[in-house]
Amino acid sequence: MTTSSTDNTLPPETPAARVRYGDKIVRCAPGETVLEGLLRAGAEIPYSCRNGTCMTCISRAVRGTVPAEAQKGIKDTLRGQDYFLSCICKPTEDLEIAPPEDADLFGRAAVTAVDHLSKNICRVRLTSATPLYYHAGQFLNLRRDDGLTRSYSLASVPSLEPYLEIHVKRLPGGQMSNWIYDDLQPGVSIDIQGPSGGCFYFPGNKAQPMLLIGNGSGLAPLIGIARDALKDGHTGPIHLYHGTQFSGGLYLDDTLRQMDADHGNFFYNACLSRGEDAECCHGRAEDIALADHTDLSDWRVFLCGYPPMVRDAQRRAFLAGAALADIYIDAFELRDLRTEPRE
Ligand code: FES
Repeated sequence: MTTSSTDNTLPPETPAARVRYGDKIVRCAPGETVLEGLLRAGAEIPYSCRNGTCMTCISRAVRGTVPAEAQKGIKDTLRGQDYFLSCICKPTEDLEIAPPEDADLFGRAAVTAVDHLSKNICRVRLTSATPLYYHAGQFLNLRRDDGLTRSYSLASVPSLEPYLEIHVKRLPGGQMSNWIYDDLQPGVSIDIQGPSGGCFYFPGNKAQPMLLIGNGSGLAPLIGIARDALKDGHTGPIHLYHGTQFSGGLYLDDTLRQMDADHGNFFYNACLSRGEDAECCHGRAEDIALADHTDLSDWRVFLCGYPPMVRDAQRRAFLAGAALADIYIDAFELRDLRTEPRE
């Protein structure tokens, strides 16, 4: 026989939808998300970004109907099976929910290479057991055998490379990033979920200027997007600004300088916020990029990396004339792991 624990943390008069999850029943107040209610009641449920981006909190409604907004960004096949994101689900009726079925979400991939590109960034290449349809710049969730799950953006371009490539920055206290940097070896298999996310290149107007700004391992989606655009014959100028504190963080400097030399419409700018180097710009990447390009009307803008930088640059790009629909962001949201900004 199983017993249920009922959440009594809301005043009895509060109108609330009840959510059953395993042996817990929680009451979500109006405006409260399923994830907030479950965490308040001490339920164990995976999550990361808490804003509908990373897909870590995906769950299944086995009874009741979730609001349509809670299924935003989920593949049609999963939406049809009543999957939803608990972090953006504000229930309007009683629900019974369950964790996702592994077979619906996860596949396996074999690690084929781990290359340490700097003292805290490594490049991981993987081969999926089943073919994946994706765009450079989307992200994958990697799940370790103990269930620890994190999101990483894809630097590989499917029409150019047979492998999936991610860049992992070792973070202070980061369980996954330190494990990947220190322990992950070629030959190991790992669960992958995705790809997901809307920060990628699409052909559209091939003459449209593009501005790409990223810091630290935020370079991963940007180099993928730039290479995808060049492969597709994009003719407009592509300006990429990579920011880090010191020159040791410019972990693909040679590759990017070579791209700059090889393509008349690709322009690479290495930006150091603290170090000195005659071949680099000095200052924060977003400040330098937005000072160089003061009128972004009809530009496409891609912003990736440390969330406050991404949000600030998004606002400033909009004020400089970029249409909101032309600004693509990939903010690296983390859960309680970071005590200092990503470089
Ligand atoms: Fe819900 Fe990230 S999508 S925690």
